[in-house]
Amino acid sequence: MLASRPTKLLAADASGIADAAALLQAGGLVALPTETVYGLAADATSGTAVAGIYAAKERPSFNPLISHLPNLMSARRQGLFDANALALAQAFWPGPLTLVVPASPGCTVSDLARAGLPSVALRVPAHPVAHAVLEAAGRPIAAPSANRSGRISATSAAHVMADLDGRIDAVIDAGPTEVGVESTIVACLDGAPRLLRPGGVPREAIEHVIGRPLVIAGDAGHAPISPGMLASHYAPAARVRLDADAPHDGEAWLGFGPGEREYPASLNLSPTADLREAAAHLFGYMRQLDEIGRKTIAVARIPEHGLGEAINDRLRRAAAPR
Ligand code: TXA
Ligand code: MG
Repeated sequence: MLASRPTKLLAADASGIADAAALLQAGGLVALPTETVYGLAADATSGTAVAGIYAAKERPSFNPLISHLPNLMSARRQGLFDANALALAQAFWPGPLTLVVPASPGCTVSDLARAGLPSVALRVPAHPVAHAVLEAAGRPIAAPSANRSGRISATSAAHVMADLDGRIDAVIDAGPTEVGVESTIVACLDGAPRLLRPGGVPREAIEHVIGRPLVIAGDAGHAPISPGMLASHYAPAARVRLDADAPHDGEAWLGFGPGEREYPASLNLSPTADLREAAAHLFGYMRQLDEIGRKTIAVARIPEHGLGEAINDRLRRAAAPR
């Protein structure tokens, strides 16, 4: 059992940021807003602090975690950037992109945060509060999404508290996150950049910068190397039925686009069919519909381009057999 501790609610101001950085430097666990989702942060250089993340989330296994840095210069002390990695970092950082690169000889990210791998996952988030905490903490900060393992990712401080109250030291409340799905993860390890997880930067934008199609992890001949690609993930309590035209009797409905009929227990990800708006609403709406307690949530078809790829990835995981 994890010892219960009071979880402090910190304001997104200078004093909250200073408190969060001090807690992190002391090995504590702090949930931070990023532009994608709330992250459960700990000092990535301390194996003990990182172990606390797994304990609080009840992660069954030691998946490697993303280390967050305030800028490209500090990221380059941790990892070795080839030409593709550098071009992607310059195009999308700060922002919702994670790069998996070979760890540098001077990498200070703990073995536990890297799950013993010779590579390291690095991200420079765009959220001003995350940025300020990273600057003040002065070290790489590991942060998976701030939810219990297997549950829906947290996009507000209230979601964090629902899952982790009493299990972490603090949460900074900066309102709902803007992007709403996690960062896109691209591995630049061998000259052929691979998409490990679709996310907040659309695949098309990445391919435009590197001037070639991304190799998709899991394609023939490429074993999935990102343990976060586990099929069942992001699971609500309700079953999830995808690509539905309409709800069956008794189902909750997660709609998309204009001209929908009014159903009981329904929410629309974006009445204007805007994929950015849909991504921002996705996890919060799944939580809301789940709380209604219907056995099944039926979900409308979502286009597979732009942010639709990340939305559909999360929906397929939510619908996967558990
Ligand atoms: O938007 C995000 O990325 C959020 C916010 C908080 O920044 N963070 C996040 O972290 O989603 P996490 O720990 O839930 O996702 C880590 C993913 C996992 O799929 C993990 O397998 C992959 O990154 N990963 C980390 N290090 C890796 C490595 N060295 N090789 C391959 N995959 C790696
Ligand atoms: Mg997660």
